[in-house]
Amino acid sequence: MAHYHTDSSDDEGYELIDNCIRGHANTQSAITKIEPFAVVLRDDIQLRAQQEQEQCLNREESNICQESKTRIAELKEQMPIWENSKARRSDYREQAEFVNDDGPIVYLRAAEKEASHHNEMALKDAQIEHLNRMMKLMKEEREEFETMVRKERKQRMVHVNQINQAKAEEEKISKKTMEQKDKEIERLRRILELNEIIIDEDTQKINELSNELKNVKIMAEIESSHYRDQVQALKSNSDCERFVQKEIQMELQQHRIFGFRLTNYIAPRIAEVVWGSQASLKGLRVDDDIVKVNGVDVDGLQQHEFDWLINGSAGPATDPDQLRATLRTALDAGYRLIDTAYLYQNEDIIGEVLEEYFSTGKLKREDVFVTTKLPLFAMEPEAVAAFIKKQLTALRLSYIDLYLIHTPCAVRARGPCKSIPEMSKVGYDNADDIELIDVWRVLERGYKDGLLKAIGVSNFNVRQLQDLYDKAEIKPANLQIELHIYWPQNALVQLCEQLNIVITAYSPIGAPGKPNFGPAQSTVRAPLHDEVVAELAKKYGKTPAQILLRHIVQRGIVAIPKSTNEKRVRENIDIFDFELNAADETRLLAIDYRTRMFSFPFVRNHRHYPFDELKSAE
Ligand code: A2P
Repeated sequence: MAHYHTDSSDDEGYELIDNCIRGHANTQSAITKIEPFAVVLRDDIQLRAQQEQEQCLNREESNICQESKTRIAELKEQMPIWENSKARRSDYREQAEFVNDDGPIVYLRAAEKEASHHNEMALKDAQIEHLNRMMKLMKEEREEFETMVRKERKQRMVHVNQINQAKAEEEKISKKTMEQKDKEIERLRRILELNEIIIDEDTQKINELSNELKNVKIMAEIESSHYRDQVQALKSNSDCERFVQKEIQMELQQHRIFGFRLTNYIAPRIAEVVWGSQASLKGLRVDDDIVKVNGVDVDGLQQHEFDWLINGSAGPATDPDQLRATLRTALDAGYRLIDTAYLYQNEDIIGEVLEEYFSTGKLKREDVFVTTKLPLFAMEPEAVAAFIKKQLTALRLSYIDLYLIHTPCAVRARGPCKSIPEMSKVGYDNADDIELIDVWRVLERGYKDGLLKAIGVSNFNVRQLQDLYDKAEIKPANLQIELHIYWPQNALVQLCEQLNIVITAYSPIGAPGKPNFGPAQSTVRAPLHDEVVAELAKKYGKTPAQILLRHIVQRGIVAIPKSTNEKRVRENIDIFDFELNAADETRLLAIDYRTRMFSFPFVRNHRHYPFDELKSAE
C-alpha cells in the first residue's frame, strides 16, 4: 500500500488522484489506491481536528477558544473540498462500477479516447499556441512592415513634395521662359515688320537710285563723250603733253611709294663725291692686273677713264670735312633724299651728320629718306643680312628707307676688299652661280623685319627687272638707273609705269665731270652743252642744269644730282618755280642723240651684265 503524506494540501491530494486516474488504465485499481488515501486523509483531518480541539481545551480559555474557532472555520472552509472529494469519489465509484459492468476494455477505450481527445486537445492547444505565436510574429512583422511603410510613405511624401516643388518651380520658370520667348517672338515679329517696312522703303530707294543711276549713266555717257572730245582737242594742241605730265605728277605725289617724301623730286647724290676721297686709291693706275681684270680684255678702258672711275666726277678728291659741309648745305637747302652706297665709302660720315641734325632737333628721322645699296662683292645670300646690319651701324640708323641691289653682277673678291678698286687689286671672279632672286629673298626678309622700309634694284635691264618682279614676293619699289636726255631709258620707264615702280635717275645732268672715254668716245656730247637745253635755259631764265632736272621731274622721275659745290647744290633744287611747257618737253624728248656715261667694263663678261646694247655692239 502506497504511503501518502497527510500534511500535504488537499489540492495536491486531488491532483494526485487525477493523475492516478489518468496515469492508470485500470480505474478500478486507481480507485483502490485512492480509497485508502481518502480514508487516511479523512481520518487524519478528523484526528487532527480532534487533537487540536483537545489541545485547545488545555490552553487559556479565551485564546483557545479563539484559535479553535479560527481553526474550525478553516476546517469548515476545507470541508467543501472534502465534500467535493467525496463527490468525486462517488463519481469514481460510479465509473468503477461502470467499468465493472462493461468490462475493463470498454473503460480502457473510453480512457484512450479521452487520452486521445486530450492529446488532440493538447495538439490543438499547441497548434493554437503556434498559431498565436505565428499571429504574434505576423503582427510584429506587420507592425514592423507598417512602420516601414509609414516611414517609406513619409519619405515618399517628402520626395513627392520635393518633386512637386521642383515641378512647380519648373513650371514657373518655363512659364517665365515661355513668356520671355513670347516677348522675344513678339519683338522679332515687330523687327521683322519694321524690316519689311525698311526693305520696302529700301526697295523703293533702290528703284529710285537705279533710275537715278540710269540718268547718271546717260549723263556720264554724255560727259565722257564730251571729255573724249576735250582729250582729242588736247591731243591736237600743244598742251596735250603738259596735261599728261601733270596727271603723272599728281599720281606720283598722291599714290607712289615715295611721293610724300620726295616733294621736290631731287636730292644730292653724294656717293661719287667720296668715291674719289680715298687717298689710297689715288695712286692707282691701269696696269695688267686691272686691264685684264677677271680675264677680260677691257679694251677701251683708258688711264683717264680709270682715273675718273677712281676719282669720280667731282674732280679732286673730296675730304670728309668737305662731304660733311656739302651734306649740311643740302639738308639746309631742303634736300631730304640722301643717296649713298657701301661702295661710296661715306655711310659713316652721312650717319654722323644725320645724328647731328637729329640730336639738335633740326630734323627728325622721319624727315629724311636714306637710300643705300648692296655692293656687288657682298651678294652671297648667306652674308647679305649681316652686311645690311653693318651698313645700318655705319649710318647710325635703325632702318634704311630704301635698300637697293647695286648691280645685277655679283662678284667674289679673291681677298679682303672694301671697294671696286681694292677688289681690282686683289682680283675677283664673276659669281655667276649667285641667283638674283636668292639675294632678293634676303632683302624681303629685311623688309618684313622692318629694317628696310622699301627695297629695289639698280642697273637692272628690262628682262632682269621683269624676271625679278615675277619671282618676288615683295615687289621692287624702285629702280635706280642712269637717265638723262641722251639716255632717256624709254623701255624701262614704260615697264616701270606698268609695274608701278618708281624710277630714280642718277647722273641726271649727264655726269659732266666724267671725261670722254678714249678716242672712240671723244665725240661724246654733254647734255649740259646741248643746244636745245641752252635755248630753253635762255627762254625760261634758268641754267642748263635746271632745265635738265626739271625735265626729269616732269617725267615723274626722281632725280639725284650730285654736287660738292654749295652754289650748285642750291641751284639744283631751285627748279620748282617754273614749268616746261609741253612743246618744250616734247623737244627735249625728241632729242635722238644717245650715249651711256657708265658702261661697267669691269663686269662686261658677267652672266648678268645688264647693258645689252653694249654687248651687241661688241
Ligand atoms: P660739282 O660737284 O663741282 O658741282 P651727275 O649728278 O649727273 O653725275 O653730275 C655730277 C657732276 O656734275 C659733278 O661733277 C658736279 O660738279 C657737276 N654739277 C653738279 N651740278 C651742276 C650744275 N648745276 N652745273 C654744272 N655742273 C654741275
